[in-house]
Amino acid sequence: MNPQKQTVVSGIRATGNLHIGNYFGAINNFLAMQDLHHCFFFIADYHALTTHPDAKLLNQNSRQVLVEYLACGLDPNRSTIYLQSDLPETTELYLLLNMLAMVGELERCTSFKEKIRKHPDNVNAGLLTYPVLMAADILIHKATLIPVGKDQQQHLEMARDFVVRFNNRYDTDLFPQPQAYNFGQQLIKVPGLDGMGKMGKSEAAGNALLLTDDEPTIRKKIMKATTDNAPTEPNQRMSVPIENLFQLMNLVSKPETSQHFLSQFQNCTIRYGDMKKQLADDMVAFIKPINQNILSLQNDTQYIQKIAKMGQEKAKASAQKTLESVRHLMGFWGL
Ligand code: TYM
Repeated sequence: MNPQKQTVVSGIRATGNLHIGNYFGAINNFLAMQDLHHCFFFIADYHALTTHPDAKLLNQNSRQVLVEYLACGLDPNRSTIYLQSDLPETTELYLLLNMLAMVGELERCTSFKEKIRKHPDNVNAGLLTYPVLMAADILIHKATLIPVGKDQQQHLEMARDFVVRFNNRYDTDLFPQPQAYNFGQQLIKVPGLDGMGKMGKSEAAGNALLLTDDEPTIRKKIMKATTDNAPTEPNQRMSVPIENLFQLMNLVSKPETSQHFLSQFQNCTIRYGDMKKQLADDMVAFIKPINQNILSLQNDTQYIQKIAKMGQEKAKASAQKTLESVRHLMGFWGL
């Protein structure tokens, strides 16, 4: 094994089609990392259970995430791509780590507080221990680099706390410290089209640009994106919806294109309709090839099953080794 190489783990919940927030927050880094490191990318189907999808939908969504991983360019020969529920070692580690996780810290977690505010009728224990399962996903392969978007930062900090606690408690250096990663830069938050928060699967319809969206849908969503009245004074402060449009443009358009509209904003000659049309052109050019790959892979059940099986075998070999060490350290020696 090349000592320069690190172990990378990341996953995406099986909750629906992926959007460009998932792409630029996570997948973009997965692609860049697969040549440099030992990479494990999985489909977080257990994590999707907190919202109680019906069985058929969960299954369809898991398969779709795998298809979209491949359509984006994840390569099963360079990365280990697997389904979280195909690796029971993760759930055993989750149980063991739960003994070191304190209810108070889990209750203080921002994503938990947000979920109970949004869904007060479904405050299940899986939601509370969500960060522990996530830590188990990471630690089961002893990963050090975790490519995620900004919204996962706090979960990563909790995983780091569990590492310190486990290593101290069992007087070991078994687990290295995992770190949230975005190629040496700040973690990112891709904004949605509704002029408010982040792009997300559970936000209002039209907020997210999906990798499965066809050209007319992309254009329609972007042309409907929230804006404000045009600027009235030179170099005026940008409102959030306009800042969001520029952020999206920075992801898919050439720098000189963003610069052109920025100068127009600053000298008050900008027409938001023109900017949106340009953004739609560039977004279509970005999403279209991925979309075509999705369509050509979607029905190839044999290939999809082969990839999942291959991934499961590789992931299992790595996970079993870790779990064996953990069990030994904790005193499960057999009688
Ligand atoms: P999930 O499914 O919500 O999102 C998957 C990945 O996409 C990123 N992301 C974004 N990045 C930037 N801007 C956005 N608008 C945006 N929306 C989503 C997320 O940060 C994430 O990287 N808990 C995780 C899944 C998970 C996991 C793990 C990740 C389970 N176990 C272990 C890493 C390691 C989640 O819900 O991601």
